[in-house]
Formats: sequence, C-alpha cells, structure tokens
Amino acid sequence: MTVVPATPPTPAATAETPAVRAARRRSAEIEARIDKDPSAFRVLTGDRPTGALHLGHYLATLANRVRLQDAGVDVVLVVADYQVITDRDETGDLRGTVREVVLDYLAAGIDPDRTTIFTHSAVAALHQLMLPFLSLVTVAELERNPTVKAEAVDAARRQQRSMSGLLLTYPVHQAADILAMHGNLVPVGADQLPHLETTRTVARRFNQRFTAAQPYFAEPDALLTESVTVLGHDGAKMSTSRGNSLELRSSEDDTAAFFRRARTDSLRHITYEPEERPEVANLLRIGAHLAGTTPEVLAGSIGAAGAGRLKEVVTEAVVEGLRPLRARRRALQADGAGVVGEVLARGAERANRLAAGTLTDVRELMGTVY
Ligand code: TRP
Repeated sequence: MTVVPATPPTPAATAETPAVRAARRRSAEIEARIDKDPSAFRVLTGDRPTGALHLGHYLATLANRVRLQDAGVDVVLVVADYQVITDRDETGDLRGTVREVVLDYLAAGIDPDRTTIFTHSAVAALHQLMLPFLSLVTVAELERNPTVKAEAVDAARRQQRSMSGLLLTYPVHQAADILAMHGNLVPVGADQLPHLETTRTVARRFNQRFTAAQPYFAEPDALLTESVTVLGHDGAKMSTSRGNSLELRSSEDDTAAFFRRARTDSLRHITYEPEERPEVANLLRIGAHLAGTTPEVLAGSIGAAGAGRLKEVVTEAVVEGLRPLRARRRALQADGAGVVGEVLARGAERANRLAAGTLTDVRELMGTVY
C-alpha cells in the first residue's frame, strides 16, 4: 500500500509491537468470519500502475487477493492512475502500463465476473468525495503519515523535487478510494498498519460532524497479511522503480538469468537465517512459497549443495509455479486490447455506481442537495 518506493522495512518497523499484536488477533477473528460469511466483507485495495507487476507483488498481495476472491469476498481493485503523478512528471506510457497490470491481475486468477477492477480516472464521484474528506484532517496529520514523511525526508536529502500537493493529500485520496466503495477490509503488511489510520480517522470524523446520531461510514479494518518482503537481484527490496525486479510476464530464460544474478553470501551450507543471511533467506522464501513448502525444509534439502544448487531449485520452483499464470497471460495477450478494455469498462460501471451512491448519501448528510 505504499505510494513511494519503500526502503526495506527495518526489523524495528515490523517488530511485534502491541499494535501489531492487536491487529494480528483482530485479523485472525476476521479470517474466521470470512470463512462463515464472506459476503459481509468488501476488500478495497489496488496498485499504482508504474510498471508490469513483479514477483514481489505476486507473493505479497496478488495471491492473497485471489484467495479472498475465491473465498467469496467482494474484492474491488483500484488501478490508481492518479497516484502515478504524485511524485513524477513523466507518466510514461500509462495506457500500456495499465494494460499490463490488468493482464497480470487476470493471469494471476482475478476473475472480472467476481472482482471489480477500475481506474481512478474513470470514477469522478470518488474524487469529489475527497473535498469534504480533506476538511477533516490537518496538514500536521498529513505530514505525520509514514509515506508522506518518508517522501519529504527523501526529497530534502536528495534536494530534488519538493513534495506535490497530491502527495501530501494522498492518504485522504486513499480514504476516498476505500470509503467511496464502502470497503470494510484492507489487506496490509505489518509495517503498513499506520496507512489505514487516516481512512479510519476520516470515517470517524465524518460521522461525528455530519451524522452523529447514526454513523454512516464504517471504519474499515486492516487484514494483516504476512508481509513477504521479496528482494531484487541487488539485495534491495524488489520494486519497479529500482529496476531490480522479476516481472511476472518475463520468460523462463529471464527467470533463470534473474536468479543467477541474485545475491547470496560466502557460506557454503544453506540454512534459513532471515536475520543473518537475508539474501539466502529471500531465495528460500520465494522457492518455498512457490513449491508449497517451508523455507526451513527447503534449506534442509539443499544443505551442503550450496548457493548454486539453491538458485537452480528456486528457478525451477518459480518457473513451475508461474507456468499457469504465464500461459494464461499469453492467451489473454493474444486476444489484443479487447479484454482489458472490456474488463475496465465493466469495473468502471460498477465503481461509478457505488461511488455515485456514496456521494449522494454524503451530499444529503451534509445538506448540499438543493
Ligand atoms: N497506494 C497503493 C499502492 O501504491 C494503491 C492504492 C490506491 C490503494 N488506493 C488504495 C491500496 C486504497 C489500498 C487501498 O500500491
């Protein structure tokens, strides 16, 4: 859920703080309720279309979205095209990038008959909701948002561009995404828990100010997902903007080349020690995830065979694990632009219906229907 290329979370950021422990308990309760009554939930989440999706997206978010969809939860995905211009002037080929992202969703198992996929720019009512929402937060609060703060620090350090107004207000924009659709569940990693706070604050303050007798917006819950941080071949967190990622759409040869370049360390024997051996642990996690085993078991099966063997095993697991996805992607791509356009048109139709309904309610509650 980060809008800027995040620096790898420090161990402190993902430590078991009381807040994380509480969120973990709450998430376990929610998972149990999803089992019983998935229709009570609407998940709202999405991605900034800055490039085709990569292995990090797949392991950290995409597979989980497919799981929730298949469990019967109403999943709504925003392709956040307006977020692309929060921190850059050059958007590149946005049409092309949005197409790649949607193809990645569909190839990964997102089913447009069950899941709504829409682009920000196609849903005007969502952005109108941002205006009253902006009145509910202070500039100081926005500046305390972890993503906004990180970007401000980064911009100052690099003495590059200064922060845009759109970046400062992005937490409220995200609140508009979630509340416009009445999403009540947002999947996040432990290090991203604070991101949802602005949305909860906006919902609470809107209720207090405009509809005290009967709350209108529910405060959405975080659904804590095991944060799998996937590293790129350079040992830093995999991210599109770093250019260190393995794209889901890449070929088997590119996959092998990616893992051949991946960093390991000088110890021969392969063991799973996330703190001491982050690069080896990363490869073990990736391999284990795709082969349906645990990093410990995978490490045990390689042992003295060393890093060369580890890379072969992980390459094999990724090639095999992504084979169906890549086959579906090729088939979809062969269909031309039709599929993507159709999916986005259907998604926009539903998202517009939901957002327009929310906006009508909000205008009534605010007394701005004349
Ligand atoms: N900011 C998210 C990202 O960069 C995408 C996003 C936009 C989002 N709106 C959202 C995620 C609302 C969760 C909820 O990946």
